[in-house]
Amino acid sequence: MCGIIGIVGTRPVQERLIDSLKRLEYRGYDSAGVAGVVDGHVERRRAKGKIRALEEVLAGEPLKASVGIGHTRWATHGEPSTRNAHPHASGRVTLVHNGIIENYAELREALKKKGRSFESETDSEVIAQLLDEELKTKPPLEALKATLDQLTGAYAIAVLIDGCDELIMGARRGSPLVVGYGDGEMFLGSDALAVGPFTNRIAYLEEGDYVAIDHKQAQIFDEAGNPVERPVRTVAASAALVEKGNYRHFMEKEIHDQPDACQHTLSAYIDPTTGRVHAPGRLDFAQYDRVQIVACGTASYAGQIARYFFERLAGLPCEVEVASEFRYRQPAVTKGTLAVAVSQSGETADTLAALRWCKAQGLTTAAVVNVHESTMAREADLLWPTHAGPEIGVASTKAFTSQVAALTALAVAAAAARGRIDTDEEARFTRLLLESPRLIAEATQVEEEIRALAPELARARDVLYLGRGAMYPLALEGALKLKEISYIHAEGYAAGELKHGPIALIDEETPIIVIAPTDALFDKTISNMSEVAARGGKVILITDEAGARNAPDGARVIVGPTCDPLLAPLVYAPPIQLMAYYVAVQKGADVDQPRNLAKSVTVE
Ligand code: M6R
Repeated sequence: MCGIIGIVGTRPVQERLIDSLKRLEYRGYDSAGVAGVVDGHVERRRAKGKIRALEEVLAGEPLKASVGIGHTRWATHGEPSTRNAHPHASGRVTLVHNGIIENYAELREALKKKGRSFESETDSEVIAQLLDEELKTKPPLEALKATLDQLTGAYAIAVLIDGCDELIMGARRGSPLVVGYGDGEMFLGSDALAVGPFTNRIAYLEEGDYVAIDHKQAQIFDEAGNPVERPVRTVAASAALVEKGNYRHFMEKEIHDQPDACQHTLSAYIDPTTGRVHAPGRLDFAQYDRVQIVACGTASYAGQIARYFFERLAGLPCEVEVASEFRYRQPAVTKGTLAVAVSQSGETADTLAALRWCKAQGLTTAAVVNVHESTMAREADLLWPTHAGPEIGVASTKAFTSQVAALTALAVAAAAARGRIDTDEEARFTRLLLESPRLIAEATQVEEEIRALAPELARARDVLYLGRGAMYPLALEGALKLKEISYIHAEGYAAGELKHGPIALIDEETPIIVIAPTDALFDKTISNMSEVAARGGKVILITDEAGARNAPDGARVIVGPTCDPLLAPLVYAPPIQLMAYYVAVQKGADVDQPRNLAKSVTVE
């Protein structure tokens, strides 16, 4: 959502605040700002738009501070503008906030009655004003606690107080905040990446915690105000992991990272010597009679793919629902249900709420997450990690295939535990899965062909994606990728559904992308394609060699690797990702930071 950094340094912090904000920009990029203690007073600089706009402001008016905070914003309350940009200031308080204060309107009215006036339209400014009010009668930490006690909603904050030159206070509820321990310097940040270039020693604040940092130490308190220790861990968010290398965009790099990401992920699940799959946490699938997957966006499509395998291989009924619906629907779950949250960030508000709801119903919960110290990772009974490494492009690519890889391995584990396959079959499936990194790499070789198609696709107003079986969720994912980065309207359909309505959309201007490597349903998909071709539709078929031989007349064919249907969602993901990527590049769109989006949606 928004990104936060705070540094109590022994040397100037402006450059480091900016460096950190650039690493956090994937969380939001509507505006950015910094504040720091200059000659005993807090000064701030803010700009609408991306960090580079803030850099221009700082070039004209540098912030000569060695203690400072910074923020990059994804707007919720109040339009993107300099006035609504963080840090927000009120009296002695200057503050940055990530989250949503649900009772802000009521608090704002109460503060106005006390004669306070507001500079911005944000909910965040209310926290600054409240804290300034509390500081009239209380020392900083007491004032902070009294302020937090009045807030309803989600927040991670970092605060400077005029007159307290070497202090940054912070707090978290519902939005993550970490404390970084440096050498004579201390840090606060939204995540390990924020403080990664400065330290790898990190403590994760827990729900309701608040903290004061100075040069040497962090004093942490729990929600009730008791001093607490939070373990300091050494994390591997090295600076190198968030560089683009020779690639033009993070998305391009991350598409090409997928063989490694899947291999690292699979090695957490598969023992290559025995050919057995181990669900981390040693969960016994035989004890469950249903799997309920909750997730949002791309992660929900990974869940939909996994459903085919949990049901087909393991005979385990599996439902998949977008978390924003699930959490409010009061679903009728049964005791034998295993709840699985799938999330790259592990912080998505709806998925986290759905996970918590399942936990409150007494279900066993597992989290398939890429950020292993995230809230979901810590709150679920079982952490089922993906090892994609930091994903910076807002459009999810390597996190998606890593989720599919992990979930497919888990479906094989479930099949073995439930006696649906013997150890020989399990070993055959794991051997197949271990081939997927090589096949994913082979699939990216269609890059040049796809790049050549991009100019034509970029002219389309609408694009349809079709697939059957596990290729249907991949069609949905293809459409989402195109929409989010190229702003072209796209929809995914189950190929068999076409004639029940969407076929009316077919005309010569609408490209139809059909994802159909050879499988048991291939002939049926070919019939659907012929229906489209007969109505003048422009078909682009993504298939394997055997499929290409059966392509209908007039179809443009992109030939990917031949693989077992178990691997097809993994192997055929790169071509559709590359398609979205090159269309967006062709249109000159901002691939890594598409408009209106944020990498991790930590508010409803
Ligand atoms: O961090 P999460 O996996 O929970 O995020 C879920 C969605 O917000 C995310 O997948 C979103 O749909 C991506 N922008 C898709 O590329």
